[in-house]
Amino acid sequence: REVALIGVPTDVGASDRGASMGPEALRVAGLRERLQAHGLVVHDRGNLSGPANPWLPPVDGYRHLAEVAEWNRKAHEAVHAELTAGRLPIMLGGDHCLGIGSISAVARHCRETGRKLRVLWLDAHADFNTSAITPTGNIHGMPVACLCGFGPPELTGIGGQVPAISPKWIRQIGIRSVDAGEKRFVHQNELEVFDMRYIDEMGMRHAMELALATLDERTHLHVSFDVDFLDPDIAPGVGTTVPGGPTYREAQLCMEMIADTGRLGSLDIVELNPACDVRNRTAVLAVDLVESLFGKSTLMRR
Ligand code: ARG
Ligand code: MN
Ligand code: MN
Ligand code: MN
Repeated sequence: REVALIGVPTDVGASDRGASMGPEALRVAGLRERLQAHGLVVHDRGNLSGPANPWLPPVDGYRHLAEVAEWNRKAHEAVHAELTAGRLPIMLGGDHCLGIGSISAVARHCRETGRKLRVLWLDAHADFNTSAITPTGNIHGMPVACLCGFGPPELTGIGGQVPAISPKWIRQIGIRSVDAGEKRFVHQNELEVFDMRYIDEMGMRHAMELALATLDERTHLHVSFDVDFLDPDIAPGVGTTVPGGPTYREAQLCMEMIADTGRLGSLDIVELNPACDVRNRTAVLAVDLVESLFGKSTLMRR
């Protein structure tokens, strides 16, 4: 299997600067080499380029909308091109606003090839805000809403079909920080959320069994891995830490259960912020987990 690394070095959608350094930190942590050690053929496409972060306050509920749109159009085209060529794209963010470009490309590819799409959103946050309900205006809190058609046309229209995806295709895991208006909107749209309360009570195994239920051989599985999904004790290198996330063991199990489906078709690794990290340990951890996602296991399986 061939994979393509696509660096998208921007933090225009985030509340803190620094996620723009994420792609390089993942490379320094050995992402390419770890994947190659698993027998994957890895093409590192380098980094896309785009507008600088103007660091301005929000306008009409959106911060840096024009810049976010431009980066996402570029991410969309790069991800779509790799899928068309039969490679598995790994988008190295960058902040989570880039999920709009990446996942709209995956959705377009699924339409073109007659596949079904399932999106696993691994995150502390639901990222389901709109300009009317966002407390911050930061667009990294809005990608799921934009993909479901709730957002400005500059973002919802990327990929040529609005909405790009249905809320029914999404499973959110690890959620523990949702804003007041966002909570109502998540409920209204019936998003399937396995929050930390659920994981505490039922365990990661049961949560993942349900999140991965009803996949079949026509399903393309996309994983959008916001590194703030992980407990900040093990993953301090993110701008928006929220205590009480999955432990190392829970995160490993989550990745291994995804690998076992054999349906992984594309991946985002986002919100890694080297400016917040300690000697790149969060990048090293993310690479370790991604190895499991691509099938690393202690013993021979089956
Ligand atoms: N809900 C908050 C907001 O809208 C935080 C979003 C954090 N998102 C992220 N991808 N880290 O600003
Ligand atoms: Mn996120
Ligand atoms: Mn998050
Ligand atoms: Mn292996």
